[in-house]
Amino acid sequence: MSKDIRLTIVDEDAGHAQELLSRVANSFPQHIHITPSEVRSEIARLEPDLILLQEPGDDSGLQMLHYIANELSDTLVIYLTNQRDPVKARDVSRAGAFDILFMPDEITALGDVLSRAVKALEAQEKGKDKVFTWGRGQVISFYSGKGGCGRSLVSATLAQTLQMDSNSSVLLVDLNLQFGGVETYLDVDHERSIHDLTPVLKELNDNHIRNVTAIEKSSHMEVLVSPRDAEAAEQITEEHVQRLLRTARLYYDYILVDLPTEMTSIGYAALEEADRMFYVMTPDSPSIRTFGRVLELFNKLSVDPTGRLEIILNRIGRETEMRQKDIQQHFDFPITGQLREDAKRVQQAINRGIPIRTRQKDRGSVFVKDVKKLADSLLDEQSKRSAS
Ligand SMILES: Nc1ncnc2c1ncn2[C@@H]1O[C@H](COP(=O)(O)OP(=O)(O)OP(=O)(O)O)[C@@H](O)[C@H]1O
Ligand SMILES: [Mg+2]
Repeated sequence: MSKDIRLTIVDEDAGHAQELLSRVANSFPQHIHITPSEVRSEIARLEPDLILLQEPGDDSGLQMLHYIANELSDTLVIYLTNQRDPVKARDVSRAGAFDILFMPDEITALGDVLSRAVKALEAQEKGKDKVFTWGRGQVISFYSGKGGCGRSLVSATLAQTLQMDSNSSVLLVDLNLQFGGVETYLDVDHERSIHDLTPVLKELNDNHIRNVTAIEKSSHMEVLVSPRDAEAAEQITEEHVQRLLRTARLYYDYILVDLPTEMTSIGYAALEEADRMFYVMTPDSPSIRTFGRVLELFNKLSVDPTGRLEIILNRIGRETEMRQKDIQQHFDFPITGQLREDAKRVQQAINRGIPIRTRQKDRGSVFVKDVKKLADSLLDEQSKRSAS
């Protein structure tokens, strides 16, 4: 397959480009080297399948990456940089790079990354008729500064619904590492967890992830359950979360992350990696006050919610004291979902140890109905994006 793949190396340093070429020329007979200044005039004509983009010295790398992603949506870009900067790594990954390698230390990983890219291109070829663009999955982190507002219930039910109502692939990640969260609302029990990814973290791929996930029975979505073990939880690092979510983004359409209230480095990493943050809140004044405090904390930690944070109102009832417009008066974030309270059915499902959403046609609960509406709006957005 790699003999059919067109590889372009973008590098301002001819000597360095030559060095890269000597590593890849055998596996990729169709290769060419261009300089960053030639990208705008040449890239659309060359239409490479794969690009090795060595970051230029003048900091224009990210801009170039955006340009390429816009021009050639199916092309995979491997970004090579000499600066080990986590903020840059995040921005590069958000801009849609297939992977980032820190030079010169990680040059030895180039072969592995290239073979993953070849596999990805093959899968892309096969999946052309799928509705969703491969490799552009969305990470949605569910957070709230107040416990018990419904993060676990909402993330679990939304994940199931996205999986049941579309052909997209969904991964639900439970980062309530000490005590767990989503298994209360799903019939999943599994020995393996994020902790088991530790030995393969540096070369993580989709097989590693699938090896540790549980399959939820009614929807067939994948769930990465919590280790539910304080000792194992302590060994999970930001790097676990970063690598897991960056890799998952390449293989799943939706990655939903359930977070605990306490703000730890793990939660921080999951928020930083998120394309969207769903802030779950109940419509009452204490929740509004807490939200204000959370925004102050985000500010201190330099977590930027602009354009990413959306409010999910949960447990709306007849006696609800706050309405959408009251909340919108306080905050300038969109309200993406409004979910009604369904005390009877939610409680029944929890007591029986079964998910609230069990069948494709499940109209019984108003909560399920509202989650379906939320899922529909996400799926609509996604298919519009794929079509454009
Ligand atoms: N829309 C709803 N209708 C009825 N009950 C609900 C609804 N949303 C949440 N609940 C109730 O609230 C409880 C807590 O929800 P959940 O565990 O999802 O919250 P959480 O934010 O994840 O809490 P924690 O702080 O424990 O992680 C549920 O067990 C359920 O009883
Ligand atoms: Mg929870």
